[in-house]
Amino acid sequence: MSEQTLRERRRKHDLDEVKTNDNDNIKASGSVQPSKPRPNNRSNNYSWLTWGIIIGYLALLLYRNWDRLYDFMHPWFGIKFTSNNEPRSVEILAEPKKQEAIIAAFKHAWSAYERDAFGDDEYHPISRVGSNLTKAGGIGYTIVDSIDTMVLMGLEDEEKRARQWVQNNMNLDRDGDFNTFETTIRVLGGLLSAYYLTNQSIYLERATELGDRMLPVFDTPSGIPMSFINLGRREGVTDKHNHGLSSTAEAATLQLEFRYLSYLTENELYWEAVEKVMKVMKSARVIQGLAPIFISQQTGQFVSSDIRLGSRGDSYYEYLLKQHLQTVRAKTVKKRCIMYDDAMDAIHKYLLKRSPREKILYTSELIPERKQGSTEVTWRQVPKQDHLVCFLGGSLMLGATDGAQMSVPPQMQDFTRGQVRDWRTGVDLIKTCLATYETKTGLSPEIVHFRERDDAIPATSVVHGDWYIKGNRDNSVPYDARYILRPETVESLFIAYRLTGNNYYREFGWRIFKSIEKHCKIPEGGYASILHVDTIPVTYEDKMETFLMSETLKYLYLLFSDDSVLPLDKFVFNTEAHPLPIFTPHMRTGFS
Ligand SMILES: *[C@@H]1O[C@H](CO)[C@@H](O)[C@H](O)[C@H]1NC(C)=O
Ligand SMILES: *[C@@H]1O[C@H](CO)[C@@H](O)[C@H](O)[C@H]1NC(C)=O
Repeated sequence: MSEQTLRERRRKHDLDEVKTNDNDNIKASGSVQPSKPRPNNRSNNYSWLTWGIIIGYLALLLYRNWDRLYDFMHPWFGIKFTSNNEPRSVEILAEPKKQEAIIAAFKHAWSAYERDAFGDDEYHPISRVGSNLTKAGGIGYTIVDSIDTMVLMGLEDEEKRARQWVQNNMNLDRDGDFNTFETTIRVLGGLLSAYYLTNQSIYLERATELGDRMLPVFDTPSGIPMSFINLGRREGVTDKHNHGLSSTAEAATLQLEFRYLSYLTENELYWEAVEKVMKVMKSARVIQGLAPIFISQQTGQFVSSDIRLGSRGDSYYEYLLKQHLQTVRAKTVKKRCIMYDDAMDAIHKYLLKRSPREKILYTSELIPERKQGSTEVTWRQVPKQDHLVCFLGGSLMLGATDGAQMSVPPQMQDFTRGQVRDWRTGVDLIKTCLATYETKTGLSPEIVHFRERDDAIPATSVVHGDWYIKGNRDNSVPYDARYILRPETVESLFIAYRLTGNNYYREFGWRIFKSIEKHCKIPEGGYASILHVDTIPVTYEDKMETFLMSETLKYLYLLFSDDSVLPLDKFVFNTEAHPLPIFTPHMRTGFS
């Protein structure tokens, strides 16, 4: 008899026996019978079956609870414990050729703006015209936002022309409503970092004037600032579209700029105004460390609204860390910031999820819902992540090292358990963001959704494994699909590279840069947003966001610079990528 037939026989034989056993089972469960001694081989098969059922059941249990188990085990995955003899640091050297290419891109963007729209707030590269934010005239959004990048890139002529504009043409006496947050992060932040990098007093003069014009925005019953400021009239203006409420992120993302202005001018008013905002928010917290996206200026209380790390939420969390890092902490002050720690705990507890198949880590959003006639709020979890959230990966890594206070790369034994958790989450969130760049253009959409078990998604969606760009029912191009030259992922790549020296981050940054060059560059000058990251050839949107020059190209440039340029233990970047030095305050500090 051949091997083959023997094996076949055995298999058939097995089948027969399973059947027999099944019958036994049925009998056994039907009635209790006195057990008869069985022949040996039968009892062996019987116990194999029992084990099979037990193992099968355990496997099922494991499969159904895999997410929970994975999350539980996760902090221990992939951690290398290096011996003390190993080199504790890697060298971070510049790559001049790549930096040259990025400088050329900046010049391509700037020269088109200077040619077509110099002095206007915003630029439209297809129609080659500029526009202003209000009818009252421009306040130099694009110019001021770009100056520190010019200084870093060594573009002295460009900086000189921009400075002359700030000196001779910049006029803040404009009777129009300017967004409090955008004006702070772009114009005030831009002026302050330009001042730090050049020592040109005109920048500080303008910054001080702007700060003074903005102060009335904090004159509300609670101290939570209004959403708009009329710079000419020096009056705060509420946001009529959102019931006069303020965005959480917008109110909590003014602190780095106003505090540094206080430090430079020795005028405490700016500091006190923004510190008060944090005190109000601290006492108004709802779900542990998480803050809903709207807060009332009247009461200083959060109102029932979405909780998310994307728009209107994002930089609240970013500035919790950076406010803490901005000032040199006295040795006696507690090292960790309680508000930040609580927020990170809550994010881990309530917002982080893994996709079912590929186990991609992402942040979800919570939407409050109230059943009719009930006052009780339940939170619906939505598997949706804005590109804006991609700042969080780098931010978590920066927080884990307490602001780059560790070796490069950090040694895991120097971390507490919480720091290990944040570090690992940061690394994984960056991976997720990079996965969303695996599109036809190599660029990431504005908003991605993640698959869930048994979900039903619109047929017009573009699916990439466990994440997708949600389609519209009418098959029109979804808003979510666009790439508007956003910086958050390259920002995280820059931080991750500086903290690890791992070339993976540089390589991916370079790929993103090449994709921008390929798909967003307008030959006649400037760069444009594109409407769908998965459609080639691309369709442009006629807008070059100011954060291309202030953030995206700056972070790409810094990704390829050596670590003597703006070291992360000496600078914090505001949320518009304007570097501000860490300083020792001469006034009371600390809301935590
Ligand atoms: C924008 O404002 C500036 C300053 O008032 C003005 O010179 C310029 O013409 C305005 N641009 C447009 C497009 O209206
Ligand atoms: C600016 O001035 C300060 C104080 O005089 C000095 O330490 C710093 O090096 C100067 N920076 C630049 C860019 O010139």
